[in-house]
Amino acid sequence: MDMTDLARLQEEFKSQLAEVSGPQALENLRVAYLGRKGKLAHLFSEMGTLSREERPKFGELLNQLKRFIERAVSEKEGSVGGVDSDFSYEDPTLPGVPPRLGRLHPITQTIREIGDIFTRLGFEIVDGREIETEFYNFTALNIPLDHPSRDAFDTFYTEQGHLLRSQTSTVQIRVMEKRKPPVRIIAPGKVYRPDEVDASHSFMFHQIEGLMVDDRTTFSDLKGVIHLFLRKLFGNHIEMRFKPHFFPFTEPSVDVDISWGRGWLEILGAGQVHPAVFEAVGYDPKKVQGFAFGLGVERIAMLKYGIKDIRLFFENDLRFLEQF
Ligand code: DAH
Repeated sequence: MDMTDLARLQEEFKSQLAEVSGPQALENLRVAYLGRKGKLAHLFSEMGTLSREERPKFGELLNQLKRFIERAVSEKEGSVGGVDSDFSYEDPTLPGVPPRLGRLHPITQTIREIGDIFTRLGFEIVDGREIETEFYNFTALNIPLDHPSRDAFDTFYTEQGHLLRSQTSTVQIRVMEKRKPPVRIIAPGKVYRPDEVDASHSFMFHQIEGLMVDDRTTFSDLKGVIHLFLRKLFGNHIEMRFKPHFFPFTEPSVDVDISWGRGWLEILGAGQVHPAVFEAVGYDPKKVQGFAFGLGVERIAMLKYGIKDIRLFFENDLRFLEQF
C-alpha cells in the first residue's frame, strides 16, 4: 500500500461517480468509500502496518482523499438530489391517516328522499331557474300586479327587472310551456324571500314543487298521491287532513296537515291547477286537468330530524352537519 494506491483509488472513485445518476446510487457509492466498513476506513485501519516515517504523510494524503470524496459527493447531490428526498425511515406498516369522508347535507338528503318517492310514482325531477322574471313568478301563476297575494310571495329584485324566485311554482310554467300533457314532474330548488332571519325564517330556503297534468287528473288523484307520499315519508301511522285555503294558481286549494296523534302540523300547499294558469301556457283548460303542490324542504327536514332552528342548516358548522 502506497501513494499510487491512493491515486488509483481516487481515479476509480471519479469514474464511478460519473456513472451515478440517482440519489440511491450516490448513497451506495458514498457508503462504499466513506462508510464504517468502506474503502477509506479499511485504509485507515491498515496504517498501523506502515513505518513511523511513512505514517504521517500517508495519513495526510488519506485525509485529503476523504475530503475530496466528501465534497464530490455533496456536489453531486446538488444535481441528482439527496437520498433523503426519496428514502426515509418511515414505517410502512403503520396505519395510514384516514381521509375525512364527506357526506350529503341534510337538505340534499331530504330532497333526494322525496325525489325517490316521486320517481317511483312516475314523476320526473326537473330543474328551474333561481333568477326569474315577473311573468314566471307572478303573472303566469295568476297573481296580477295589483293582487294582494303578491305580498305573500314578495322577493328580491335586480335593477334590470329580474327577480329571485320566491316559489318553485315558476317551474310549473317553464315545464308546461315546453311540453304537452301528460306532465308529471317535481322541481326542487332554492327560493328567496326578504324575511327577517330567525329560528323559523331564512331569506333563502328550499322548496319542492309538484305538478301532474293529464286529460283527467282529479282532486282524488291529488289526495291519493299526497297521502301515499306523506305515508312513505313519515310512516304509515300518520293521519292527514285537507283544509280549504287560497292560492292564486290553484282552485280549489288546500293546506295539508299531518298528525302523529297529538295536534296537527301544516306540511304543504296543494290544489287543482287554475284554468288561468293553463291559459298562460297555452293549454286548453277544457281539455286538461291537473294538480299541483308545493312544500318547504327545511320544514320537513326539521320535523324528521327534530331540528329546532332553521339557521343550523346554513351555518356550515361541522358539529351539526356531521350528525347526518
Ligand atoms: N308556491 C306556494 C308557496 O310558496 C306553495 C304551493 C301551494 C305550491 C299550492 C303549489 C300549490 O303548487 O298548488 O307557498
